[in-house]
Amino acid sequence: MLSGEVYYPSEEVIKNANVKNWDELNERAVKDYEGFWEEMAKELHWFEKWQKVLDDSDKPFYKWFTGAKTNIVYNCLDRHVKTFRRNKLALIWEGEDGQLRTMSYFALHREVCKFANVLKSMGVEKGDRVTIYMGRIPEIVIAMLAAARIGAIHSVVYGGFSVESLAERIEDSNSKVLITADGAFQRGKIVPLKQIADEALQRCGTVEHVLVVKRTDQEINMESGRDLWYHELMNLPIATQNCALEIMDAEDPLFILYTSGTTGKPKAILHTHGGYMVGVYTTLKFVFDIKEEDRYWCAADPGWITGHSYIVYGPLLNGTTSFMYEGAPNFPYPNRWWQMIEKYGINILYTAPTAIRGLMRFGESWVKRHDLSSLRLLGSVGEPINPEAWKWYYRVVGNEKCPIMDTWWQTETGMFMITPMPCVPLKPGSGSRPFPGIQMDILDEDGNPVKPNEEGYLVIKTPWPAMLRTVYKDPERYVNQYWSKYPGYYMTGDSARRDEDGYYWIIGRVDDVIKVSGYRLGTAEIESALVSHPAVAEAAAIGLPHEVKGNAIYTYVILKNGYEKSTALIEELRKHVAHEVGPIAKPESIEFVDSLPKTRSGKIMRRVLKARALGEDPGNISTMED
Ligand code: WTA
Repeated sequence: MLSGEVYYPSEEVIKNANVKNWDELNERAVKDYEGFWEEMAKELHWFEKWQKVLDDSDKPFYKWFTGAKTNIVYNCLDRHVKTFRRNKLALIWEGEDGQLRTMSYFALHREVCKFANVLKSMGVEKGDRVTIYMGRIPEIVIAMLAAARIGAIHSVVYGGFSVESLAERIEDSNSKVLITADGAFQRGKIVPLKQIADEALQRCGTVEHVLVVKRTDQEINMESGRDLWYHELMNLPIATQNCALEIMDAEDPLFILYTSGTTGKPKAILHTHGGYMVGVYTTLKFVFDIKEEDRYWCAADPGWITGHSYIVYGPLLNGTTSFMYEGAPNFPYPNRWWQMIEKYGINILYTAPTAIRGLMRFGESWVKRHDLSSLRLLGSVGEPINPEAWKWYYRVVGNEKCPIMDTWWQTETGMFMITPMPCVPLKPGSGSRPFPGIQMDILDEDGNPVKPNEEGYLVIKTPWPAMLRTVYKDPERYVNQYWSKYPGYYMTGDSARRDEDGYYWIIGRVDDVIKVSGYRLGTAEIESALVSHPAVAEAAAIGLPHEVKGNAIYTYVILKNGYEKSTALIEELRKHVAHEVGPIAKPESIEFVDSLPKTRSGKIMRRVLKARALGEDPGNISTMED
């Protein structure tokens, strides 16, 4: 018997699950870790087999399936169009305006090949970086796969980011091609993506071609010689549906994805074709229990890792039918999600606690007017889920029959790391245990494992196939940030505790990352946006608990001489941050102050600000300057 509040899966769930006995699978994976992953890799196609499953000769630069040749796109598309799956829906898409589009595996393969030829005609070659900046429309999937097909490295920038975030990511990745859209529909309004891109391109000089998908159809600026319409290119004779696939080394880069970490600029996390493919394929299959007839919906955005791994690559690798929705959950009414689940017969719903809490506020009658009996499994990701939201999700959405997969993982891990499976007993608020074979621990400051239920630093002790390989162009930062606090162990940046049953409970970030509505933002990005305003001399940002968003951004600003404190200025600064970083980064509050707590070496002590805001004891402040 497990301690605390436990939800046991029904006989029915266990009987039908892909994995019926977690302990057995775990034992198998622990006993022969490499053999386990090798077995999973064999379910996918390789043009040449590996010489080694795991090469750890140059730690922490681990390599997986060395010597093997593949291309993740072959396993996502080409493999399926040779089987009955060619007629199966790969994608069902609903626009916020109600528009419906579907694409079979055959059709998706065709569109990807055509667009890959377009990219080739722009001079894109193996190893080149291509930036993609779009809303949730099918073309974002096509663009990612087309780039990967020809061996280019995609760098997707979330459509909710704005001018400076986009410029910085284009510049750092040195992209020659930007793929974007005229706009995106969000809550009935248009996000002017192309206009934001135009402004970003004035700040960085690498882009030669901008390919623009028409979605919102408002008037936009098209610079001749640089900007081209996607639909026109796709009609050119060069856009044939035959496009040779680039045979990639297992360790060749597939994508970079920028994410916020401790201090400074966002860093580009690099993932590869081989290991990432095996990790993402396996975890989705086991955790979300993928069945041939399923209709699966991951409600994240393709612009974040959740979308990369579990909207784009994972579902396609498993030959799944994936549903994608463009807009806001409560548009035009709070029943939008439930209406679509009923309409399309969705079996699996994977979303974030913030969305659940947001929809919970509208009350259960919005859910209850729809028949959600097609649902079999639910999932959660991005931040700790509070037991109250968990229980609402379980009872109201899942009708007490759908286990909730609370999956803990990161941009860096590429795949689920702590997660239940449908056959596992659940405790609301805990992601249960590490994925079979993966060893994790919770350590104190000196590197000793903490006692049960004590808080400590969460670390990963075994390499895993979908692990990041490096920080793009900055291997030193890779080593320093992740592998130096406890040599040999990967440092997650999270604090956690483990109960007497071995269940993990994530507490939150211990670095300068703020999770707002599950989105990962860095204090440095927000602070540098504030300081780029002429009125601001210095700024500090912290995250404070928020009922729906999990955390909200609170900022403290020192004004330059000659500027007056006013509510108008507060509003202007909030808008400025939204314009530079993105609407998700808009501070909840801006407080003008005369000084900031700093260490003697000049570092802002955010924990002191946080303690003060929460009315708590700031702890040791002996390093603080007067
Ligand atoms: C947090 C998102 C609690 C955690 C896939 C992690 C979670 C960070 C969970 C990574 C979860 C993610 N429970 N916390 N189930 N999932 N986190 O890179 O703090 O955007 O370090 O990846 O999100 O955020 P990222």
